[in-house]
Amino acid sequence: MDVPVFLTTRAEAMADTPETAVQEDREYTAQVLPDAIRFAAPSSLSLLEGALLDDVRLPSSCRNGSCRACISKLHSGSVRYRIEWPGLSLDEKEDGYILPCVACPTSDVVFEPVGDT
Ligand code: FES
Repeated sequence: MDVPVFLTTRAEAMADTPETAVQEDREYTAQVLPDAIRFAAPSSLSLLEGALLDDVRLPSSCRNGSCRACISKLHSGSVRYRIEWPGLSLDEKEDGYILPCVACPTSDVVFEPVGDT
């Protein structure tokens, strides 16, 4: 699994991305409720990674889709997962819950962290 964990700049984050992925990379806008904080959300990065690059703090712990500390409600937009089985039930997925640490945007997104942290 190719999961960059400690990213410091957008250029550094993109440097390890395969060339084909860079060509397909798109940059979307993410908005975090309830404060409507916005950040650039490249399709090649998870929402958490994009937030960190723009100095936006989101709840997180494991950063691999298993602890659920980052669980959020997706209010609009769409994501794809970089792992096959993120720690969400099918019902949670259908109800619009996402795990931003492993969810990459496929459109502009609006989401709201709903975990305890
Ligand atoms: S930080 Fe653990 S599931 Fe997202």
